Amino acid sequence: MSARPQVGIIVGSTRPVRVGRPVADEIATLVEAAGGEAVMLDLAEIKLPLLDEALPPASGVRTEPHTIAWAERIEALDAVVFVTPDYNSGYPAALKNAIDYLKAEWVGLPSVVVSYGWSGGASSNAQLSAVLRYIGLELQGEGVLMPFQPTDFDESMRMVDAAAFVARSEEQLRLAAERLVGAAAEERAAA
Ligand SMILES: Cc1cc2nc3c(=O)[nH]c(=O)nc-3n(C[C@H](O)[C@H](O)[C@H](O)COP(=O)(O)O)c2cc1C
Repeated sequence: MSARPQVGIIVGSTRPVRVGRPVADEIATLVEAAGGEAVMLDLAEIKLPLLDEALPPASGVRTEPHTIAWAERIEALDAVVFVTPDYNSGYPAALKNAIDYLKAEWVGLPSVVVSYGWSGGASSNAQLSAVLRYIGLELQGEGVLMPFQPTDFDESMRMVDAAAFVARSEEQLRLAAERLVGAAAEERAAA
């Protein structure tokens, strides 16, 4: 077992060109700077199929190899960051699917929601936070909203400079990372 608290960073968007991954990469850097070990969990790479377990996750029964592997990855964490865009005023289907695969593995896990969009992803942040509270994750603070500006995008709606976009929220992300690593360390000490 690693000495440093394990902080998962779940990238909730899966498009081939994404804002989500540079946001997650910066969070990983900040988690490491705060003394945690960042564990990148990019749903575009993990490629979970739509939930295909016969029994509900609350049963604790995990049969499919991809479910067992996903459960093991979440079980190994001391805390988790959810990185989500606003898609039609909600969070992506791939992220809901990944959450719905598990139950006990999430319960008690300290977490932070980082969202982005024209209103900072306020809607997806609120919806996702409500779902995480329902499941029993321990949300740390209000989450981080990262609002777009019109100049962030070119005429084909591609982000011009993801690093500059992320840099605008650097301080909020750093504070969230430090808070979460602190909670993760407490979680590990209590285990
Ligand atoms: C299917 C879809 C729906 C979207 N709906 C919204 C929305 O409701 N609010 C918003 O602020 N941005 C919306 N956008 C713009 C996204 O915030 C923007 O494309 C962002 O880069 C998406 O995150 P990603 O690049 O990580 O996929 C939408 C984008 C997509 C692809």
